[in-house]
Amino acid sequence: MCGIIGFTGGRNAVPVLIDGLKALEYRGYDSAGIAIAGEKITTVKSVGRISSLEKKLEAAPVVGCCGIGHTRWATHGCPTEGNCHPHMSADGKFAVVHNGIIENDKELRALIREAGIEPKSDTDSEVVAHLLSLDYDGDPVEALCRTVSRLKGSFALGVLCADRPDEIYAAKMRSPLLIGYGDGTCLSSDGTAMPRDINEITVLADGQTARLTKDGATVYFRGKQVGCERIKPTVSGRAASLSGYPHFMLKEMYEQPEAIARTISTECRGKRTGLKGTGLTLIGCGSSYNAALSCRPLLERATGRSVEVALAGEFLYSERVPAYGKQCVLLSQSGETADTIAAAEEAARRGYGTLAITNVHASTLTRTCDDYLCTRAGPEISVATTKGFTTQVAALGLLAGSEFASAVRELPGLAEKALQASEGLKNTAGYFDGGCVFFMGRGADYGAALEGALKLKEISYIPAIGIAAGELKHGSISLIEKGTPVIAICTDDRLIGKSLLSIATVKTRGGYVIGVTSSPEIAAACDEAIMLPPVHPMLSAAVSVIPLQRLAYEVALGLGRDIDKPRNLAKSVTVE
Ligand code: M6R
Repeated sequence: MCGIIGFTGGRNAVPVLIDGLKALEYRGYDSAGIAIAGEKITTVKSVGRISSLEKKLEAAPVVGCCGIGHTRWATHGCPTEGNCHPHMSADGKFAVVHNGIIENDKELRALIREAGIEPKSDTDSEVVAHLLSLDYDGDPVEALCRTVSRLKGSFALGVLCADRPDEIYAAKMRSPLLIGYGDGTCLSSDGTAMPRDINEITVLADGQTARLTKDGATVYFRGKQVGCERIKPTVSGRAASLSGYPHFMLKEMYEQPEAIARTISTECRGKRTGLKGTGLTLIGCGSSYNAALSCRPLLERATGRSVEVALAGEFLYSERVPAYGKQCVLLSQSGETADTIAAAEEAARRGYGTLAITNVHASTLTRTCDDYLCTRAGPEISVATTKGFTTQVAALGLLAGSEFASAVRELPGLAEKALQASEGLKNTAGYFDGGCVFFMGRGADYGAALEGALKLKEISYIPAIGIAAGELKHGSISLIEKGTPVIAICTDDRLIGKSLLSIATVKTRGGYVIGVTSSPEIAAACDEAIMLPPVHPMLSAAVSVIPLQRLAYEVALGLGRDIDKPRNLAKSVTVE
């Protein structure tokens, strides 16, 4: 989704902004632009990759020590140069980059039209630039305070004012925004986009505005100066490099044993972290939901109670049943997924105690929840999550308590073995002709099946269905015909009999079954199989998912897909 970078310092800001925009590319975007302060503010924008923006800058260089930049992922208005940020006020006084959604955009457009200004773009963001110039009487911080008081919705704003060409102004509401300090001062929606020399950051809170100079920042709340805590940054995306791998997804797959080991051995958690309360609900989106679902049997065993697992976007609109004394665990790799953050707020309103499991310590989710437990996967650049998923399963294993401690400790070694077994999936694109692929499993294997299907869909664009093996016969089996690929995941020896039946049912209809299993009996019943090491059946998704990730990767590679940046997708989905 959209990304913000800003820099003011004693050197040319343009390369800093371009490097920052490149570091933000992984979030997904369709256009990008920069604004540089000077005698007047200059903007350069381009649709498509950052490289086309760079070409424009090569053809007509711009230089200046203070600027802002943006990668846009279109919501309001198509990806065109006109809709690309930064947006300028009609008088040329202000340039604005914006992440989030201005919900009262229509009213505000009417207001600026009354003032004789006609918006040029289809975006909800442009209006902020015009409002700033209407609210300005010589002090940009005051103008920003007035303008943000008119906005409804979510926003992270970076602003330049032509009258103060060395300063950047910022405002934050329900969309992340960080200030970084090093050789100059930086603004970004994502710590991974900050330059390497940034050694301290301030995480802006909702309702805060800020003024950035080359020497630091001043933070305000409702117009009054407030303290500005500086902390050490936990990630540096600019440090993330391919290290010889062709794609971040492959690199991150191979980082899983180490990432799991770090997660289970390096404590990064709040003070009270643990399972507590009279009921437990796990919430997430996409892969985080799948990780939660795969651990339902584990947590039911650990708590001795039934455990609910909900999609964040559905939980929000479920009945508001009071939940005092109950606990809600919210999983999010990024810690910035809007649905999950909204679900955390809703859970607190219903009376749940809230616990975040996230990979980003300084994220909105950790600040929204009562308590947190951090996975230690390191920066994840590929849009398709891999180590994010497996470290979440490991973290849930930690939460499940001492009964599972030895099984959790085995996970890094088992993940290593699963990676080796997955090597056998190289060049497997040939299995798939574009028709629907099924992934089936029971219990923890069902969560892994959903994740396997999601991986294949998102990076290869092949239709895939993750299904509880017992459900196949209730309708979806009508899609099985000669050659239909079915991936059967079976890691629980107690379910071998049932799984053999499901496999036979598929094969009878001509389906081609690839087993992902530790059981020789299951493997023998399949057309072919990836052999996993034996793994605790309630933590098995951390291991069984690895060949599924590799399968998706190899298929997408064979089809020539843009593996790390699949079409239409964003790394962190910051709108509901
Ligand atoms: O950062 P989060 O874990 O909250 O993200 C949730 C989903 O958007 C994410 O898992 C998505 O499904 C991934 N692209 C899957 O690979």
